[in-house]
Amino acid sequence: MTEINSVTTLTRDGDVAVITLNSPPVNALSGNVRQGLYDGFKAAAASDAKAIVLICEGRTFIAGADISEFGAAAGVPTASLFDVQDMMENSPVPVVAAIHGTALGGGLEVALCAHYRVAVPSARLGLPEVALGLLPGAGGTQRLPRVVGVETALEMMTSGRHVPAPEAAKLGLVDELAEEGKLKEAAIAFANKCVAENKPLVKISSNNTKLEAAKGKPEIFAAFRKANARKFRGFAAPEANIKCIEAAVNSATFEDGLKAERKLFGELMMGAQSAAQRYYFFAERQANKIPDVPDDTPIRPINKVGIIGAGTMGGGIAMNFANVGIEVVIVEQQQAPLDKGLATIRSNYERSRTAKPEETAKRIGLITGSLSMEEAFADVDLVIEAVFERMDVKKDIFAKLDAICKPGCILATNTSGLNIDEIASVTKRPQDVIGLHFFSPANVMKLLEIVRADHTAKDVIATSMKLAKKIGKIAVLVGVTPGFVGNRILGQRQREAQKLVMEGAMPWDVDRVLFDFGFPMGPFAMSDLAGLDIGWVKEKSNGETIRDVLCEMDRRGQKTGAGYYDYDENRNAIPSPVTEKILHDFIVKSGVNPRKISDEEILERCIYPMINEGVKILDEGKAIRASDVDVVWVNGYGWPVYRGGPMHYGDVVGPEKVLAKMKEFQATMGDQFKPSALLEKLVADGKKFSDLKG
Ligand code: CAA
Repeated sequence: MTEINSVTTLTRDGDVAVITLNSPPVNALSGNVRQGLYDGFKAAAASDAKAIVLICEGRTFIAGADISEFGAAAGVPTASLFDVQDMMENSPVPVVAAIHGTALGGGLEVALCAHYRVAVPSARLGLPEVALGLLPGAGGTQRLPRVVGVETALEMMTSGRHVPAPEAAKLGLVDELAEEGKLKEAAIAFANKCVAENKPLVKISSNNTKLEAAKGKPEIFAAFRKANARKFRGFAAPEANIKCIEAAVNSATFEDGLKAERKLFGELMMGAQSAAQRYYFFAERQANKIPDVPDDTPIRPINKVGIIGAGTMGGGIAMNFANVGIEVVIVEQQQAPLDKGLATIRSNYERSRTAKPEETAKRIGLITGSLSMEEAFADVDLVIEAVFERMDVKKDIFAKLDAICKPGCILATNTSGLNIDEIASVTKRPQDVIGLHFFSPANVMKLLEIVRADHTAKDVIATSMKLAKKIGKIAVLVGVTPGFVGNRILGQRQREAQKLVMEGAMPWDVDRVLFDFGFPMGPFAMSDLAGLDIGWVKEKSNGETIRDVLCEMDRRGQKTGAGYYDYDENRNAIPSPVTEKILHDFIVKSGVNPRKISDEEILERCIYPMINEGVKILDEGKAIRASDVDVVWVNGYGWPVYRGGPMHYGDVVGPEKVLAKMKEFQATMGDQFKPSALLEKLVADGKKFSDLKG
């Protein structure tokens, strides 16, 4: 065995040279890895080997460029990825890439420079750069369509999808599937076969057949752009990816296509969107790290889950567990709502069709119902209470759970803002009580706020974090504070939105500004969608608020065909003269002089108080770090990922500007804009929002 460098070895198996990379955790293409590859291929080519296999140790094949190197100062000069690729593609003997785990981004771009690819069925291949606000910048945009064709390349590159190896084999990305656990043997055997059969040294870059099929057909691209316009709105990277594939089709040579790719890659890499998306990639992974709950904290086994409440929330939560094979029992007080809840779950499964029919049936079969907590919950490992938000009701339930559930059972509440310490206080085991705040629809939304109360045990936190990952959620650990992190910050935006329309802005002005910022919809369109009458009581309504008046007029949102907006027969929102008149009357009555409010003011008044609230939350220790606040807002509240989250956005705008504006607003509009003491300190110390820890 020759040690090429600290992460690369070169060994021989008969006529085959085997280059092995071992750079944990994911064999990313850091300078050291690139240099190891370069020197490894050089040494292999200089030897008498008749073929070369590239394989990786650890959990995965190369998972891409080393993202932490992007935007960082250049280190010691090393071989570039292009140097490595040239060496592979022009190797005088066949090169076989042996793939397990994931071959992503630069990893797949390396594999595409091998002459052949062998993979185990569990491997996944893809070009996910779009998720980082980028495009594959090492020839991937030019090679992939040459292998899979233009349409598939468009879909793969703009979605970033990780394609399972069996599908990749059908697409021609993988030449042979190896038996699981026998990758190395299979790749060496394949390499020997190449030699024995004198197989050609396939250079993807020089095969244009698949591109020819799309030449002179701009309609392919036009149709793709049109079909995905909504999904791509606001993002720069999908369009740049599409342009690269267009360049592959329309350029005279592979090299010309590469030039186009390099130019567009450079533009994205220098842009604010990719910086935000790369920041967010690490933010999401950071959120898993709890300083005082180490990775090796023991976890409690969760084999059966109890849920209280068969409403929309309870049902959605149940589906998450059944989807991963965990048994669930739902308890309701009456048969009718229980039957209705179980029927809704069934129809949700049947409508979604995400799994094969037999798998769907299995999942439905894992969810049962009961009218008795005593009977249903005696053997569960976790109970999640998902009833309406009333402290007395929740306390009553938790006192009962304390008496019924076995020792060690985790007692969780799905409250979206009530005090969990108070709920825990009625039990004799507050260490087992935690908040699991799912977002609606709970089977779809990614975010899970895990709420740590004063006495929550570390293993309960560790178990909840692991369980969240298992059910496909992105978990953020937060502390007990009204509304927790997400809703507490939302409260700031909602307040300003309501005030703006009482000063002369129209609901559609506020919505448009926030929509253009990148939110899927503004607060008023959102209220219309959710229903204005949530929490509204007809008997108590006295026309004191705009909502009262709208509901009294039976303008309760989309479901009644009108709310803040009017709606046409296709549910398109139309600015409403009725709402305008109501607002006008309110403003006149309040004695305020309505004024024209600029888009800039709307945005700043909605967003800066959110950032200030995030700082307060961190100051109070209710979130661990600034980036956790961002993960909450991107996943739970539609903050556009290409703006990183409220705290990252604060850094982009600049803490000084946020502070100055808050002070200016405070002087003219009052103390709801009072900057937090920590914001003042942050600016005085010349620090950034992202430096803040809770
Ligand atoms: N660069 C640097 N670090 C990376 C990395 C990368 N490409 N991919 C993963 N990591 C790190 C993570 O930050 C994490 O570090 P910590 O343990 O310190 O938090 C660790 O590797 C493990 O990652 P995950 O927690 O995400 O592990 P997982 O098993 O859940 O997922 C994965 C593994 C599917 C590879 C996932 O990490 C992933 O999707 N990585 C990104 C892949 C990617 O986007 N590649 C393209 C890079 S851009 C590029 O290649 C441009 C180009 O054209 C040259």
